[in-house]
Amino acid sequence: MGFSPLSLSQSISFILFLFHFHSTISSSHFCALDQSLSLLQFKESFSIRSSASDHCQHPKTESWKEGTDCCSWDGVTCDMKTGHVTGLDLACSMLYGTLHPNSTLFSLHHLQQLDLSDNDFNSSHISSRFGQFSNLTLLNLNYSVFAGQVPSEISHLSKLVSLDLSDNNLQLSLEPISFDKLVRNLTKHRELDLSSVDMSLLVPDSLMNLSSSLSSLKLNDCGLQRKLPSSMGKFKHLQYLDLGGNDFTGSIPYDFEQLTELVSLGLSSNNYLSLEPISFHKIVQNLTKLRELDLSSVNMSLVSQDFFNSLTNLSSSFSSLFLSNCGLQGKFPGNIFLLPKLESLDLSSNEGLTGSFPSSNLSNVLSRLSLSNTRISVYLENDLIRNLKSLEYMLLRNCNIIRSDLALLGNLTQLIYLDFSSNNLNGEIPSSFRNLVHLYYLKLDSNKFMGHIPDFLGSLSNLESLSLYDNLFNGTIPSSLFALPSLYYLDLHNNNLIGNISEFQHDSLTYLDLSNNHLHGPISSSIFKQENLRVLILASNSKLTGEISSSICKLRFLRVLDLSSNSFSGSTPLCLGNFSNMLSVLHLGMNNLQGTIPSTFSKDNSLEYLNLNGNEFEGKILSSIINYAMLEVLDLGNNKIEDTFPYFLETLPKLQILVLKSNKLQGFVKGPTTHNSFSKLQILDISDNDFSGSLPSGYFNSLEAMMASDQNMIYMNASNYSSYVYSIEMTWKGVEIEFPKIQSTIRILDLSNNNFNGEIPKVIAKLKALQLLNLSHNSLTGHIQSSLGNLTNLESLDLSSNLLTGRIPTQLGGITFLAILNLSHNQLKGRIPCGEQFNTFTATSFEGNLGLCGFQVLKECYGDEAPSLLPSSFDEGDGSTLFEDAFGWKAVTMGYGCGFVFGVATGYIMFRTNKPSWFFRMIEDIRNHKSKKTKKNAGRFGDRRN
Ligand SMILES: *[C@@H]1O[C@H](CO)[C@@H](O)[C@H](O)[C@H]1NC(C)=O
Ligand SMILES: *[C@@H]1O[C@H](CO)[C@@H](O)[C@H](O)[C@H]1NC(C)=O
Ligand SMILES: *[C@@H]1O[C@H](CO)[C@@H](O)[C@H](O)[C@H]1NC(C)=O
Ligand SMILES: *[C@@H]1O[C@H](CO)[C@@H](O)[C@H](O)[C@H]1NC(C)=O
Ligand SMILES: *[C@@H]1O[C@H](CO)[C@@H](O)[C@H](O)[C@H]1NC(C)=O
Repeated sequence: MGFSPLSLSQSISFILFLFHFHSTISSSHFCALDQSLSLLQFKESFSIRSSASDHCQHPKTESWKEGTDCCSWDGVTCDMKTGHVTGLDLACSMLYGTLHPNSTLFSLHHLQQLDLSDNDFNSSHISSRFGQFSNLTLLNLNYSVFAGQVPSEISHLSKLVSLDLSDNNLQLSLEPISFDKLVRNLTKHRELDLSSVDMSLLVPDSLMNLSSSLSSLKLNDCGLQRKLPSSMGKFKHLQYLDLGGNDFTGSIPYDFEQLTELVSLGLSSNNYLSLEPISFHKIVQNLTKLRELDLSSVNMSLVSQDFFNSLTNLSSSFSSLFLSNCGLQGKFPGNIFLLPKLESLDLSSNEGLTGSFPSSNLSNVLSRLSLSNTRISVYLENDLIRNLKSLEYMLLRNCNIIRSDLALLGNLTQLIYLDFSSNNLNGEIPSSFRNLVHLYYLKLDSNKFMGHIPDFLGSLSNLESLSLYDNLFNGTIPSSLFALPSLYYLDLHNNNLIGNISEFQHDSLTYLDLSNNHLHGPISSSIFKQENLRVLILASNSKLTGEISSSICKLRFLRVLDLSSNSFSGSTPLCLGNFSNMLSVLHLGMNNLQGTIPSTFSKDNSLEYLNLNGNEFEGKILSSIINYAMLEVLDLGNNKIEDTFPYFLETLPKLQILVLKSNKLQGFVKGPTTHNSFSKLQILDISDNDFSGSLPSGYFNSLEAMMASDQNMIYMNASNYSSYVYSIEMTWKGVEIEFPKIQSTIRILDLSNNNFNGEIPKVIAKLKALQLLNLSHNSLTGHIQSSLGNLTNLESLDLSSNLLTGRIPTQLGGITFLAILNLSHNQLKGRIPCGEQFNTFTATSFEGNLGLCGFQVLKECYGDEAPSLLPSSFDEGDGSTLFEDAFGWKAVTMGYGCGFVFGVATGYIMFRTNKPSWFFRMIEDIRNHKSKKTKKNAGRFGDRRN
């Protein structure tokens, strides 16, 4: 990560500037009546609305009044002679609503310049009528929430000089045919920005039809694939080229050397693109006007040293170099500061970079520096500080900071962005930080800072984002923070903070995480007044009390609500199921909430994670819950739900985790009733209920996710809010544990503590990916199937406390990862197999089976008991008397029979812990708790974003 380069659109801004200039000088002329009417009707068709994170404050249409000269209105430009409206600049005017094809906008035929950027047209389609503005030279629909296909009629705008359809939430797409028409007709084109328009069907070579007079081409994040066109050199006038964020492959063609006018080149985040020596030399030698180069995430491992050696060939006006995550190796290139105008340097995430950052002879104008995630040493000393006086951005996350007198940073008074996270820093935040008055972003998380959060942070009045999580801060949260006018991101989780949360009051926060501290009291109702709040996490403070007020329903932009592991009580507000259709995570687990489960589940929702575990919820699970079509995790365990098995859940197409344990569910579990039932389910836990009848073998046939292992080791997270990592409650060796992170590879089936009877169905052996199988505490009868030995991924198998009979199949010994086996309290008999995995289990695995013998239970096997190291032909424990008789003598002579094997295996046992490896793999921060009310959950956010 790092900062992204300044936008490449300087020249567009220049045009806008001229445009604006023009609009002021022409304002004294009379406007044609029809034009005036059209404008007023246009104004009427939209409302004015500040969107959640809006920086636009000035609705230009406010000055539009009937009876006044429309040529004098804000944003309107007229032809001096005719009074026709020729320019409309409504950029950043807070317009909200649909732009219909019948809009009176399209009566303004004489428009030459139209700028509707930075408004919210609510996913309107771009009408084909835009093609009727035949004299249009500038069209700007940047960042204005348009959606759908870009109409091919845009190609009629043959006079267009500048077209910008960029940044419409990835909702626009452009078909190859439309693109071809567009590029053939727009011969006057100088500037084209289609960034984040989906053009994935386009063949890159069709870019070659673009006008060679282009001076700026931005196609960032357009889904372009395959190789870069090999003759880009034709665009000889290009000054700005940005093809970043696509999926280009291969190497950068060397005819880029012909783009001699290039000032800015961006090819970042094309993860399969590489730079090879031949292209590289040409680029460095021939692009003599280059000032900005962004090759972040392009593979440069072949040119690393060459590159550093030839830095001095770059133009002396070179200003910005972004080479984050390029596979660069070697020592920090000290000669880089021979470039006298270097302002921005990003070498972050090149773990192979070493050496030290120089403390003197730096560029005087260096204002942005990122060395995060490298091994470059930075000597924080007077010299360095004196030479970095112009620094505005300083990103030194997770690098090698030496002589860390942090107080020196207080001298860098120009700083607006400071990231020193993950550096093992300790002590208090230096008081010199009070001088950093321009700071808007301060990130000191994941260190060992202690003491109080200083009050003076509240005087850094520009502060917008403050991350102090994962430290050792104690004391109360200074109230001055809540007076910061622009603060929108506050993350203080995982500290030792105390105080009463009801005192918090803030108007602009969109992100608040105070989880895992020692805060107490009810939630201040003022938190719920912040319409802009997107993320609210107050989990694991244990002493947060009171009811969850229905005013929470005003938070209609909320995406994550996590109030888990506290002492909230009362019933939940009725709106909880549908107050925000953006809500992705709702975690109210581990509280004292009562009443019925929220039941108003609206169809139009984004919920992926619903956790109500560990409350006192009663009643039934309503089938309308299947409106949550995105649901991946449903945890209703440890409540008082009285119902039968909720079959309808099987239709939730994305459900991966279903936990209904410890409720009062009863009846048979038969099924499935539909096709693909529960096919994505990885964890099914219905333990500790009153289910009866035979095991649900019908479902075993359709649990496809449990049949195949997942190789992709990631933590399961919300796809609508990827930094929220899922957690769940599980029983591990009889103890309730919160798993704060869940590996996507995990597969668990827990049907224990019910009244299931009958035999263990053979089909269970299909669930080959299972790691944990628990059928204990039921009334299962019959033999243990030898086919259970096919479950080769099992790490824990619990069949205890049933009525199982017969012998233990030796095949179980072949389950290499099996670390926990519990067959106790059944009616098993015969010799406990030895060898392989069996030698690692102790008596507790087998106790309560009077008929078992073997060294594990310290009971000798006599004549009628089978020896153990035999082939598995008596696997079902029956029909094997032949072998028993034939080999019985051997068992007698050898006593416990497995002694030798046991001795050999001892070394192996010593190395094993009694916990299966997945247990460690899956859990980073595990906390056991006797009382479920004091559970903590830590580190649920992986990568925190702003
Ligand atoms: C334009 O069309 C929309 C949708 O078809 C309709 O709701 C609206 O009333 C129309 N407006 C005018 C001015 O005709
Ligand atoms: C377009 O521009 C041409 C040339 O300036 C002019 O003659 C014509 O009237 C314009 N068309 C409109 C609809 O304004
Ligand atoms: C090109 O533009 C002209 C008008 O300037 C228009 O008549 C023609 O249809 C356009 N061609 C395409 C392929 O869109
Ligand atoms: C690139 O630079 C080299 C060396 O200066 C020069 O010989 C070559 O002609 C240049 N190529 C282009 C396309 O300008
Ligand atoms: C830092 O600021 C202090 C107080 O203004 C000053 O005495 C000191 O010399 C400065 N140090 C550097 C390295 O600029």
